[in-house]
Amino acid sequence: TRIAVLFGGNSVEHEVSVISGIQAIMSMNKEKYDVTAVYITKDSVMYTGPDISEIDAYKDIPGLLSRSQRVIFVNEGGRVRLEPYPKKRFGGGSVEIDLAFPVVHGKNVEDGTLAGYFRTLGLPFVGCDVGASALGMDKYASKVVLKENGVPVLDGIIYTTADYGDIDGIIGGIEEKLGYPVIVKPVDLGSSVGISVAKNRMELVDSIDDAFTYAHRIIVEHAITQLREINCSVLGDENHAVASEIEEPLHTKDILSYEDKYLSGGNSKGGGSKGMAGVSRKIPAELPPEKREEVRQLAVRSFQTLGCSGVARIDFMIDEANGKLYFNEINTIPGSLAFYLWEPLGIPYEELLDRLIRLALK
Ligand code: DAL
Ligand code: MG
Repeated sequence: TRIAVLFGGNSVEHEVSVISGIQAIMSMNKEKYDVTAVYITKDSVMYTGPDISEIDAYKDIPGLLSRSQRVIFVNEGGRVRLEPYPKKRFGGGSVEIDLAFPVVHGKNVEDGTLAGYFRTLGLPFVGCDVGASALGMDKYASKVVLKENGVPVLDGIIYTTADYGDIDGIIGGIEEKLGYPVIVKPVDLGSSVGISVAKNRMELVDSIDDAFTYAHRIIVEHAITQLREINCSVLGDENHAVASEIEEPLHTKDILSYEDKYLSGGNSKGGGSKGMAGVSRKIPAELPPEKREEVRQLAVRSFQTLGCSGVARIDFMIDEANGKLYFNEINTIPGSLAFYLWEPLGIPYEELLDRLIRLALK
């Protein structure tokens, strides 16, 4: 099977995706699969070549691109291939591709856009289809669908740039409906970008300003003070899906920040050094067995209700004050494809990739 693994793209999570993409390429069984690495620049241009799967090459991206071949996907007579464009630079010809494997995070890539591109091309691909990807990226829409279907969520309020003109109106509404503290998030970004907790009116104004610099719609929710976060991955499709081990990401601030996730550099004992870039985590999370099972069941239910396929990671919150569990968000292409949550169940990364490829070719 000839597989194109795509990563990068025009997203605030570009750098994370480079790490996830290269990890996946390194872990694929090269005897079974003919792998072509495709790097999408922040300007949405695709490149391939031997250096594209070398993590160190990304320290000098202009240099990397000068040594790489720009490519485009072409469908000719129902067969899809990667074609050098605008011209062959290094003597390499075009490559036929049977399957696309997107390892991208965030808006403009993970949100159904890349899935839509593959659909338009007529190229089979790993992971969620257009609708589930788009629904999963929308922190509000996904909660509405899940709430309607028996998954507990924290209600949120949506504000758009149209409301932004009347900031006093927004603040009045939040104070009346939610009170403090609240958490303010762009509706459709990943990796905690633009997310902050506000404990008073002054902080709320800053939080709203910050969130609106990233998105046209923001969501405001009650912030849980005694918060624990628990994540669980799910693998499968509408027909059959299974839950992974559960993890508790560890961090110092009110919420898991971009810095905590990718810049802290450390991994807790449980995660090992190969875990998702930078995050400290406890695996398995310390929860009573019945709570662990509740998380795993709700994760599978969320995955299937949203119409997902492939591997996703569903992030939950526990309010320690009352023990209640809430769906927080789903990542339809999770960092590191959440492989570190499957290893404890006896599924090595290579096997996880095999299963994803099999699901996509079914
Ligand atoms: N969106 C990032 C990569 C994650 O939470 O997995
Ligand atoms: Mg996330």
